[in-house]
Amino acid sequence: MKDSSWIRAMFEEGEKLKKQYGDTDIFDFTLGNPITEPPKALKEELIRIVSSDVRGMHRYMTNSGYEEVREQIAGFHRAKTKLDFTRDHVVMTVGSAGGLNVVLKSILDPADEIIVPRPYFVEFRFYIENHGGVMKLVDTRDNFHLDIEKIEKAITSKTKAIIINSPNNPTGVVYREEELRELSRLLNEKRKKGQRIYIVADEAYRKIIYDGISFPNLFKLYDETIIVTSHSKDLALPGERIGYITISPLIKNAQSLIDATIFSNRILGFINAPAIMQKLVGKFQGNSVDIMDYQKKRDTIYSILLDSGLEVVKPMGAFYIFPKSPVKDDVKFVRTLQKHHILAVPGVGFGKQGYFRLAYCVELDVIERSRQYFQEAGKALHKS
Ligand SMILES: Cc1ncc(COP(=O)(O)O)c(C=O)c1O
Repeated sequence: MKDSSWIRAMFEEGEKLKKQYGDTDIFDFTLGNPITEPPKALKEELIRIVSSDVRGMHRYMTNSGYEEVREQIAGFHRAKTKLDFTRDHVVMTVGSAGGLNVVLKSILDPADEIIVPRPYFVEFRFYIENHGGVMKLVDTRDNFHLDIEKIEKAITSKTKAIIINSPNNPTGVVYREEELRELSRLLNEKRKKGQRIYIVADEAYRKIIYDGISFPNLFKLYDETIIVTSHSKDLALPGERIGYITISPLIKNAQSLIDATIFSNRILGFINAPAIMQKLVGKFQGNSVDIMDYQKKRDTIYSILLDSGLEVVKPMGAFYIFPKSPVKDDVKFVRTLQKHHILAVPGVGFGKQGYFRLAYCVELDVIERSRQYFQEAGKALHKS
């Protein structure tokens, strides 16, 4: 339990500091819990749904979720890919976290391996181990993009899948089409030799992308793809726990995988995703919160970090930034930041020492006011 989450640990320590110095004088970048409100149209639709006197709205349903909602989502994927998605390829889940657990439960046999590029979202380890799997970490390049050679070396006869999280938590990197094509080539070679390796894509942040860059569609790049996503971030609904799994119609024996995910949704105790939230999100597949608002925050934190003399890769999406710690010991540097009222999470919490993560899904004003404190922390470091 002690090692379960650096994010939580830092958040808790921050709460103590807030009591000491007051909320406004502490700059808390620990949690990826957006302060952004859901779109107005979504709130209005929610009111319409809950005020409706249609009977049966709160009853059990099929474990995969409401048919009309899954059909809306399938239509969204058909339009994007021109592939034959039907509602059967969609399973509504309790967020991405629920979706990932359902997928892993469905595909893993004991001691199967799942490749995870490092740095990584720390919960992946627990989700994999929940279902008897073994996580195999593979370092990314210095710019946090995929290192296909290292991935190739990490593949064994036990490899069942690779988790691709793009836009990435904690780095903000969005993988380019070319590197995903290379990955697809590698996995297709393995497939020709008789080993099927799934791509399990965690796309919780897929609509939060900056500078107009295009987001490669994995369904078009690799047949054995399962995408898990949610509306926690793009529609700012993390507390409502709504997400879904989409299984490629090109997956060999797709139906047995679909059946396994529906069964796993049931026996993991989720039963089905929250009913009212399902009804709500079907119509909002093409919508999101204001991405320009996040982009402005990205630009502001990035310029503050550069001006403070820190080395950092500019995020392309999500709402995290992962600068290099100016001293080797990232935990020590996070403590220095704490002394200057800035709360961050050390890279070790994401399997990558020598870095630290800031979640900039806070008010722009908080980011702007933190400038002076970052600079003071930088100066203190030079003096010591
Ligand atoms: C990479 C990643 N995957 C999954 C999740 C879980 O999100 P959800 O609220 O959809 O379960 C998060 C939440 O922060 C995340 O950062």
